[in-house]
Amino acid sequence: MKLNQILKKKIIIKELFSIQDVVRWIASCFSMADLWYGHGADNPWDEAINLVLPLLGLPPYIWNIVYKSKLSIKERKIIFELVIKRIKKKIPVVYLTNKTWFCGHELYIDDRVLIPRSPISELINNKFKSVISSYKNPKFILDLCTGSGCIAIACAYLFPNAHIDAVDISLDAINVVEYNIQLHGLENRITPICSNLFDKLPKYTYDLIISNPPYVNKKDINFLPKEYLYEPKIGFISKNNGIEIIEKIISMSPFFLRKKGILICEVGDKMIKIIEKYPDIYFQWLNIKNGGVGIFKIENK
Ligand SMILES: C[S@@+](CC[C@H](N)C(=O)[O-])C[C@H]1O[C@@H](n2cnc3c(N)ncnc32)[C@H](O)[C@@H]1O
Repeated sequence: MKLNQILKKKIIIKELFSIQDVVRWIASCFSMADLWYGHGADNPWDEAINLVLPLLGLPPYIWNIVYKSKLSIKERKIIFELVIKRIKKKIPVVYLTNKTWFCGHELYIDDRVLIPRSPISELINNKFKSVISSYKNPKFILDLCTGSGCIAIACAYLFPNAHIDAVDISLDAINVVEYNIQLHGLENRITPICSNLFDKLPKYTYDLIISNPPYVNKKDINFLPKEYLYEPKIGFISKNNGIEIIEKIISMSPFFLRKKGILICEVGDKMIKIIEKYPDIYFQWLNIKNGGVGIFKIENK
């Protein structure tokens, strides 16, 4: 069967009724389409679920019996239009639903911010086991390059006594962070700050600095699948072959960390470049089981 034989509005309106019918149909369409999965799901089935459930206002995991419930014609029409956008325009699902979950916490997302997918989520889900000693629960945390605020919000839940500064250079991103902070009622715990890295930060020191900064070389953007081109370039690109912002974070962090404070930073495929550039720094490279690479920890002397 070919994609154009099943990608028809009359099929979803007249022949499909339940959530499970529609999810199966979308998964078939996605399998036949030329799509890139890199924003949460890694297969057509999960991508279909990620499109349908948020749209219906349902959580990411539902009982099997709910899959049998019927969709209204209006719901099926809306889903059809989004499937068309996903397939024809290659718009990532999260930008179509404006919703995702990071470490189990719901977030509002639009194309002013990168879609959260950092493997730092695994460290947070594991409560930073073997990364931060349990007796050293951080009280002051800095989330540098916060984007949607996903890491700041997940840290606020993990460390209920901590205060978190969430910094981004993009005012657009800060507006999204503010929205997500309100969504979680965390206004007293997280302070959004629009700043070029440390430039506008208050003069106190943090127990933990955590960052997923941009680290893509400008030229490499052209080789990314179309899906990534919907995301703000400022979230990807860093000068000096992708490492300029990482360099600034490494050089400035000691001034903003208390003694024995910790810097955790994602550098992805720039790991080797960073090791070569700083032979005298002891980087602890953290184990990530779900496939991510290149997250280091440095303890401040
Ligand atoms: C890779 S995204 C990470 C977003 C989020 N932390 C996440 O994990 O999904 C990088 C973010 O860094 C921000 N950024 C880029 N340059 C910056 C700078 N000089 N200072 C602060 N933030 C910056 C971008 O606006 C973008 O939101």
